Amino acid sequence: MSELKPRFASDENMDVPVAKPGEFSEFRLGPLKVWPPVVLAPMAGITNYPYRRICRELGAGLFVSEMITARGYLHGNRMTRLLASSQPEESPRSVQIYGADPVDVGEMVASLVGDGVDHIDMNFGCPVAKVTRHGGGSAVPVKRRFLARIVRAAVRSAGDVPVSIKVRMGIHDELITYLNAGRVAEEEGVSAIGLHARTAAELYSGAARWFAIGELKSAVGIPVLGNGDIWECWDALRMMRETDCDGVIVGRGCLGRPWLFRELADVFDGREPGGPPALGEVVEIALLHAAALADFFGEGSAMKQMRKWMGWYTKGFHGAAALRADLSRVERLEELRNLLRSLPETEPFPKRALRMGRAKRGGQQRVKLPEGFLDDLEDDTPPRGPRTVAEIEEWERSHSGG
Ligand SMILES: Cc1cc2nc3c(=O)[nH]c(=O)nc-3n(C[C@H](O)[C@H](O)[C@H](O)COP(=O)(O)O)c2cc1C
Repeated sequence: MSELKPRFASDENMDVPVAKPGEFSEFRLGPLKVWPPVVLAPMAGITNYPYRRICRELGAGLFVSEMITARGYLHGNRMTRLLASSQPEESPRSVQIYGADPVDVGEMVASLVGDGVDHIDMNFGCPVAKVTRHGGGSAVPVKRRFLARIVRAAVRSAGDVPVSIKVRMGIHDELITYLNAGRVAEEEGVSAIGLHARTAAELYSGAARWFAIGELKSAVGIPVLGNGDIWECWDALRMMRETDCDGVIVGRGCLGRPWLFRELADVFDGREPGGPPALGEVVEIALLHAAALADFFGEGSAMKQMRKWMGWYTKGFHGAAALRADLSRVERLEELRNLLRSLPETEPFPKRALRMGRAKRGGQQRVKLPEGFLDDLEDDTPPRGPRTVAEIEEWERSHSGG
């Protein structure tokens, strides 16, 4: 008789059943069919080609690039171009774009499609002051006609390549925009809409309000992708069941835990997942990641990035506590290997780390909008974004995406 292993889950997810046969189906993104219905969230500084590849090799679904700004891309900014790039084995190739000028956006989309991109996602959820202060990011859906104009430019240029948009619930609770954004998206021929179920004012605080995902699903006829607080594969099943959404977008939950995609594939295929890796396997994955980053960005930049990644990979593991300070200063791949060699391989994955915050702290903000922005909500004039090379480069350095 096979022995039943206890489920590896937080208390709230102990009794969530895996998918029953036929309970969920692939979601469609134009000609693409995505199964399991799982998307790696676009995350600035995170979802570059090396990390997308690692997540994809462990699981399945759709793996979106971090946001690529139209201005930087069209200007030929070296780093922006590198971040937009991929390798021939990546299929489908999915790129998130950010732009607030319909002409730029149209031109950029045409170029990406010409370069073989299979899916374009548009970022209308960025809450960062630098972006909303100019009327970009999460401020765009406030102006229905402007949103329509910019989305239309992308859809036209994309031809047969599907375009999705990603939004937040709105600016704050008195300025909610997601239902209007959904209607605009549908009217303009967008293939799917992703909703991070928080307002821009909420940043990453509190629990994502999944009810909004259900409301959006009832309001539109295009696929709805739910986003916010998928920390465990069980959360994805619960979100799909509670909201009837067509797929889920996974952000912080996979930071330092790319095997979350393996677990997601398991539960959507109706299997109990095998449980997370012990520290030895985590180290192996982290080293693969480090080597892939070094190939892509060069060793110096890769190790700078690994400093933050090692905090996430080792989160909650007692055996790593003494090394954390050294890991946060690492400069060479060889040094990283040597440090990690001393960790206790058999230490099991700590349950308390499942739902620990990663990357973004809580806290709310007062969202900055341009002077007089709310006076004419029917205005469809593009906002003034960064224009000079210096402004674009400064903006590219400081934006944080989502
Ligand atoms: C480090 C980081 C960078 C992000 N960058 C982007 C981005 O470039 N584009 C975007 O649409 N959202 C971005 N986001 C937001 C995520 O895509 C996602 O909407 C958010 O994290 C909520 O999902 P989660 O609760 O699963 O993390 C970012 C989030 C994080 C943590």
